[in-house]
Amino acid sequence: MALAPVLLLALFFSMSVSGNAQPKVPAIYVFGDSTADVGNNNYLPGNNAKANFPHYGIDFPHSRPTGRFSNGYNGIDFLAGHMGFRRSPPPYLSLTNKTSRGILKGLRGVNFASGGSGILDSTGTTITMTQQIKYFATLKSRIAERLNLERSNDVLSKSIFLISDGGNDVFAFFQQNNAPNSTQKQQFYNTLIYNYKNHIKALYELGARKFAIIDVAPVGCCPYSRSLHPLGACIDVLNDLAVGVNGAVKVMFSNLSSTLKGLKYSLGSSYAVVSKMIADPEAAGFKEVKSACCGGGKLNAQSGCSPNSSYCETRKEYLFWDSIHPTHGASKKAGQAIYGGSLLFASPINFKQLVEDDS
Ligand SMILES: *[C@@H]1O[C@H](CO)[C@@H](O)[C@H](O)[C@H]1NC(C)=O
Ligand SMILES: *[C@@H]1O[C@H](CO)[C@@H](O)[C@H](O)[C@H]1NC(C)=O
Ligand SMILES: *[C@@H]1O[C@H](CO)[C@@H](O)[C@H](O)[C@H]1NC(C)=O
Ligand SMILES: *[C@@H]1O[C@H](CO)[C@@H](O)[C@H](O)[C@H]1NC(C)=O
Repeated sequence: MALAPVLLLALFFSMSVSGNAQPKVPAIYVFGDSTADVGNNNYLPGNNAKANFPHYGIDFPHSRPTGRFSNGYNGIDFLAGHMGFRRSPPPYLSLTNKTSRGILKGLRGVNFASGGSGILDSTGTTITMTQQIKYFATLKSRIAERLNLERSNDVLSKSIFLISDGGNDVFAFFQQNNAPNSTQKQQFYNTLIYNYKNHIKALYELGARKFAIIDVAPVGCCPYSRSLHPLGACIDVLNDLAVGVNGAVKVMFSNLSSTLKGLKYSLGSSYAVVSKMIADPEAAGFKEVKSACCGGGKLNAQSGCSPNSSYCETRKEYLFWDSIHPTHGASKKAGQAIYGGSLLFASPINFKQLVEDDS
């Protein structure tokens, strides 16, 4: 009998996380790469950086491949769930007059992210960050037409600007130079920060105030990187670069928050979350943190996840879905840690505190 209240509590918790609650912010605007894309790339010509075919989406409602680089939801979906939404807002390129009605009132939000892109416009060949922000500028002017400028700025200032980016910049730099010296690394960080700062300033000018940032994961330990190592170990240079980028982004935001009035931010550390999962898989409930669930070749990571790939049955036991991206289960755990977790996983405040800050 003593079990009943515990069960009820558990039910209540899972319901609010799955998004049956009221939205806690007017809207979420999402920018970045494949860790955040929910289908923008489906609308691009060619076959570059797409995930709109099986076995992607095998654990999504109705086993539907949506363009998410996951077997189910991605991290953005879970974060949006914590903010009281059902899942990520829709991809910008999917919007129609009908689906954009609430969005043009500044509600719900839009996802601009594009797999393959980076902080640098030279990274990848999909929708650059500069273009993602241009799309947002277009949307903002339409919202301002509907609401007037003052009300649109008010609603945007309460909305969350969620950015998950930088991993592809690290991969692109590594491809040019797989043994950079300290000067070359510093030059890379400087270029990246110069560009990241301009992106943040552009969004701030357009009315963004609350920034929720996801840092670069330990990309040297994803199955793709391990498959490059003769013994399947992590590629240390890639992880060093991720640490360097994340450190520079931290300093950048600390600086920006003292120069841009009213700017608030939280840095969610997918680096810390994923490192912890790899260091202690059992604690996180995983049995396999090295190989991909879906793919082919060494560590199932030498070929991509495609309709004819093999895939694992027990996806809950895997950290990685394909050679680069986490599973639905890993994204869910990461979302919990970054949304409501300790300073280890989000700083200087966590996403929940950013959402609830109404000062
Ligand atoms: C969508 O709305 C715009 C502006 O109101 C209008 O010009 C356009 O014709 C509409 N498109 C469709 C497909 O209804
Ligand atoms: C780093 O490498 C570049 C290119 O080889 C070289 O010019 C530079 O002197 C090196 N810097 C250091 C600190 O080793
Ligand atoms: C942060 O500000 C300090 C002091 O003004 C400056 O030296 C540093 O270059 C800035 N760093 C970044 C990443 O903006
Ligand atoms: C799987 O499909 C891809 C293209 O869709 C093809 O290149 C590859 O050869 C196929 N692999 C097998 C084992 O059939």
